[in-house]
Amino acid sequence: MGQLMRLQSREQIAAGVWAIVVRRDDPATPVAAGQFLNVLCGTRVTSMVLRRPLSIADVSDDGQLITLIFRVVGAGTKVLSELPVGAEIDCAGPLGHGFDLTVARHRALLFGGGVGVPPMYLLGRRLAERGVQIQFRLGFRDAADVFWADRFAQLGEVLVSTDDGSVGTRGTVADLQGTDPARKFSPEAVYACGPIPMLRHVQQSFAADLPTQLSLEERMACGVGACYACVIPDAERTDHQWRICYDGPVLDAGKVIL
Ligand code: FES
Repeated sequence: MGQLMRLQSREQIAAGVWAIVVRRDDPATPVAAGQFLNVLCGTRVTSMVLRRPLSIADVSDDGQLITLIFRVVGAGTKVLSELPVGAEIDCAGPLGHGFDLTVARHRALLFGGGVGVPPMYLLGRRLAERGVQIQFRLGFRDAADVFWADRFAQLGEVLVSTDDGSVGTRGTVADLQGTDPARKFSPEAVYACGPIPMLRHVQQSFAADLPTQLSLEERMACGVGACYACVIPDAERTDHQWRICYDGPVLDAGKVIL
């Protein structure tokens, strides 16, 4: 069981995409970029059975306010998007292992696709605080799907792709690579969160010795490593699988078979 957090605000930020801010009474536990909250949608009485893992997009400096961004994809997330401000939400976490910031000293390349975009914001903030120069490559479906472009732009250079070309480059984040020679960027670290094809593109695009960390989006159930509903094969050991919720969600690109 998680702790009750109070819904501070909610806002629709793109087509079917919501940002909610929850307030926690105990802000002592630090929040790492890449971690998630496992959220019981609705009240404890009316809730759906499964919790929904929602990635953390931002946290206030005092640690009390956590911003979650999610897409309404079913009954659970629809209930969550309709809760009134002031409602109590049962949230477990912050859970999982986040991104390692220490591998990026001067320049970092951050990929985000769809609902994999939100954790890139907190990661970008943390890296910017360390003086790291950032280039974001963010992929969306179309113009209506784009969110927080202005906020990302405050942290670094932002390249956007949309499936239909209504904003930025037409195609996926893979199509942003090398589109403009002036935008050549030599990162010391690469971070990515998004759908598997995007992560596969990132995994295959950079040298093996370039630190590359992937946050894997998977449907989770328990969220604490107990049910094995979220496993992915280990690239180094055939007899082992990673539990994304527990060993991840952030894993080194060389350690997973996608
Ligand atoms: Fe249960 Fe990952 S969701 S082990």
